[in-house]
Amino acid sequence: MTRIGILTSGGDAPGMNACVRAAVRTALAHDLTIVGIRRGYTGLIDGDMVQLDRPAIRNTIHLGGTIIETSRNKDFYTREGRLRAAGAIERMGLDGLILIGGEGTFHGASLLAADVDTAPLIGVPGSIDNDIYGTDYCIGFDTAANCAVEAIDRIRDTARSHERIFLIEVMGREAGFLALESGIAGGAEELIIPEEETSIARISEHIRDGFTHGKKSAIVVVAEGKKPGASFELAREIGGHLGLDPRVVVLGHLQRGGRPTLRDRVLGSRLGVAAVEALLEGRGGCMIGEVGGILRYTALEETWQKKKPLNEDLRQIFAILSE
Ligand code: F6P
Repeated sequence: MTRIGILTSGGDAPGMNACVRAAVRTALAHDLTIVGIRRGYTGLIDGDMVQLDRPAIRNTIHLGGTIIETSRNKDFYTREGRLRAAGAIERMGLDGLILIGGEGTFHGASLLAADVDTAPLIGVPGSIDNDIYGTDYCIGFDTAANCAVEAIDRIRDTARSHERIFLIEVMGREAGFLALESGIAGGAEELIIPEEETSIARISEHIRDGFTHGKKSAIVVVAEGKKPGASFELAREIGGHLGLDPRVVVLGHLQRGGRPTLRDRVLGSRLGVAAVEALLEGRGGCMIGEVGGILRYTALEETWQKKKPLNEDLRQIFAILSE
């Protein structure tokens, strides 16, 4: 093995740069050449690469986003697109490829590996949604969750001052990981997540009960679920039930940017080193994650075919603390 590639794909996540940096430094330490494939699968199909050396990754560990850019590429779901990518991998002379991304990225990688006998592929979980099977935490989740907590804290000030109910919508696609952990850390009164049935009557009565017992405001953290923006309708329904006028804040892409937290920098660094070492050990077709603090390999197909369950302990903790 002499030359490897690295790309970031799907939604950018803070800490991806720490991972790229770690992979580059590890590769160079093993006398490998490493190139960055620009703009995720779009760049892979086009063979758009950039040489990564020490100057290229200098002063990047603290940067959000991804210095090698990313994309959501639909062509990769066609066999023709994947064959073009396989051709480009060969032309670029890659002996291995590291892919930092989420479910869609690993789905694409599994399809590519099934189509052609291409260079070994190693996945690294990077997604603020934290919904990837095979790892406790994904790169970017901690920063996004901290962003949500800071927003909740700020909104609590105004909620308390006006004695209002606020619905705060966080990202997370079809999973409630961001909502659950930011809800606990932000001391929210209620949680609406895709993993559970939503009962407007129950939520409203819980808020009413809190007001009866002296609370003057309430925060409901809502996971965007299948329908981003649905919080406005939920707010109307809860407001109708209580005869109040809740306000809504949709955090949206704010959660994707910003300086990565310590946790995301350390996780990104650890997985970046491990990804290169995995290639050197002759591994491929797997994602490297961290489970219970220990590095663990999961077959690429499993990462998107299996559903990562919500942490039930944390769900219980939320229920107890929001009583
Ligand atoms: O997967 C990360 C994520 O931020 C989701 O939480 C969100 O639903 C989606 O990406 C938004 O995608 P886009 O950036 O393409 O609008």
